Amino acid sequence: MTSPKDTKRRSQSWFGHEGKSGFLYRSWLKNQGYPSDLFDGRPVIGICNTWSELTPCNGHFRELAEYVKRGVYEAGGFPLEFPVMSLGETQMRPTAMLFRNLASMDVEESIRANPIDGVVLLMGCDKTTPSLMMGAASCDLPTIGVSGGPMLTGRWRGQKIGSGTGVWKMSEMVRAGEMEQEDFVEAESCMHRSKGGTCMTMGTASTMANMVEALGMSLPENAAIPAVDSRRYRLAQLSGRRIVQMVHEDMRMSKIMTRNAFENAIVANAAIGGSTNAVIHLLAMAGRIGVELNLKDWDDLGSKLPCLVNLQPSGEHLMEDYYYAGGLPAVLREMAPHLHLDALTVNGKTLGENVASAPCWNRDVITTASEPFKPDAGIAVLRGNLAPDGAVIKPSAASTHLLQHRGRAVVFENIEDL
Ligand code: FES
Repeated sequence: MTSPKDTKRRSQSWFGHEGKSGFLYRSWLKNQGYPSDLFDGRPVIGICNTWSELTPCNGHFRELAEYVKRGVYEAGGFPLEFPVMSLGETQMRPTAMLFRNLASMDVEESIRANPIDGVVLLMGCDKTTPSLMMGAASCDLPTIGVSGGPMLTGRWRGQKIGSGTGVWKMSEMVRAGEMEQEDFVEAESCMHRSKGGTCMTMGTASTMANMVEALGMSLPENAAIPAVDSRRYRLAQLSGRRIVQMVHEDMRMSKIMTRNAFENAIVANAAIGGSTNAVIHLLAMAGRIGVELNLKDWDDLGSKLPCLVNLQPSGEHLMEDYYYAGGLPAVLREMAPHLHLDALTVNGKTLGENVASAPCWNRDVITTASEPFKPDAGIAVLRGNLAPDGAVIKPSAASTHLLQHRGRAVVFENIEDL
């Protein structure tokens, strides 16, 4: 372990100079009220924040960042929060995906350009997770992920209604004359009812939070603690403490995001019935950290694995139920024979150590591997004359009657034609 006040630390090439440049770097931060000893070589922790009023899923991130800061100060670090482009899935046109790489460049350059020794990534809504992970991976500093957590279960007139899934269903009911327009409007306030938090189905945001945890890039339980649960704030504080230690240990992202960690994530994605978007994002993250990963790996490693998690859209429950049932640690414990249990995680323990005694409290939500919710449910790669380079499908969410289909094809020459 290096000294807590290491003059070779990255941030000291800004703050450690005695002459004019050191004066400039320090003086313009002292105007924020920071005392001199914060510039003495202690780890400077950047808190990369995707808070925005246009990204309601990340609407609680200003408060979450304060808990990270608590932890950083407690461990003897100096936290500095900075904003990056926030990609809100519901408001951005034409699609937030168009901006993922742009946001990742924002993250990378913001980290690279500033006096930062370690990074905490505050991520939530769909594309905010991959863009932050990608940008940070390109910098390869000690980094820890803190997800925003899912929203509370949507509830309307005694029913559970899941983000997305419920909207499509109810809008069709209105069209069919089975639901009144005023009831439809009432359901709007019942579906998304916690201030902050991601969609509470196993959609892209929940999937990516699980991927971050499966990769070992967050503390255990990060993926599922609801956004408004006090344990989410505790995890943020503990992550703030831990990142300071990670800087002392020089535990960089590349030590955690290895090929084995990505293979673990592929296994985890099958077991949770995760989104096909994970394929796109994990391939991009692997590329940034220099790990070889391709579409065939998903087919070889994940397609024959069972899905253990009974969550919408494949199943019936929602993310709150998943957390109370044990969350990802309970799933990974079941999947242990398929995992690289010696993969290192940000808390300094191996994945195997983290999940060895993880309990499951509800087998209706998280099944055993021997009696899975759905067998052979991992992401499968399809090839054929319609997709010569490959296409992905999530069999666990597919209607069985469509898995074999004969019918007319409507063919477009190009995107303009479509
Ligand atoms: Fe943000 Fe679904 S819209 S997570």
